[in-house]
Amino acid sequence: MSTRCMAEPRILILGAPGAGKGTQSSRLAAHYGIEHITTGAALRANADMETAYGTPREYMETGELVPDPVVNEIVAAAVAEADGFVLDGYPRNLEQVAFLEDAVSLDVVLMLEVGREELVRRLSGRRTCEECGENYHMEYDPPAEPGVCGACGGGLVQREDDTEEIVRERIRVYEENTAAVVAHYDERGELVRVDGEQSPDAVWADVQSGVDARVPSET
Ligand code: AP5
Repeated sequence: MSTRCMAEPRILILGAPGAGKGTQSSRLAAHYGIEHITTGAALRANADMETAYGTPREYMETGELVPDPVVNEIVAAAVAEADGFVLDGYPRNLEQVAFLEDAVSLDVVLMLEVGREELVRRLSGRRTCEECGENYHMEYDPPAEPGVCGACGGGLVQREDDTEEIVRERIRVYEENTAAVVAHYDERGELVRVDGEQSPDAVWADVQSGVDARVPSET
């Protein structure tokens, strides 16, 4: 863990699929003026890229993890270019933790805690703008005009991996692989746990105070 004192923190945000990592990462990026590094979005943007392991789409459409070398390369390039960042969706297993620790130090590790059935409700109700990537929820955060993004006017679609069957598989894969990542940071006393079942604003208040407590500003 870094002891840097700086305005641009290096934040890791952990949590199960649907815990609100993307929602809170957008706020963190805007508030602290840092990069939002998300492996899920990077992989979706390159879903049909041919790699030595096949395409990312082949793994994502069934809810499995994309092989480590493909994901590690994305993260290595992104963290090398950023000063401050919020890292969302990575690391998801201990091999990725080891790679990350060789590449960069972190200031804060956040963990958004949400129960399984709430995760399923959130993901199966999520709709995403196909133009700008903004997320909505049919029940919790509906757009003002049905099917239309309030930010850019783009069309809202359901992500291919947000059907209930694939969502349950993603949660199973998360529990099988990523519990060890959470335990790793917890054992080192680095984990800042946040109750992710509160409203987005209440979660944000806890996220922000968790970061500010660990990363004093330069002023
Ligand atoms: P990825 O895109 O990273 O998906 P994920 O981790 O499954 O997480 P999500 O983006 O689905 O959820 P989120 O926690 O960001 O929740 P959100 O804020 O949107 O990964 C997709 C796939 O890519 C993986 O399955 C894997 O195949 C591959 N992959 C990615 N990284 C990899 C890696 N490192 N290694 C290998 N493979 C990798 O919120 C969800 C919904 O809830 C939204 O509708 C939102 O509006 C709503 N919501 C948010 N907060 C609240 C709240 N407080 N109250 C009520 N509703 C809320």
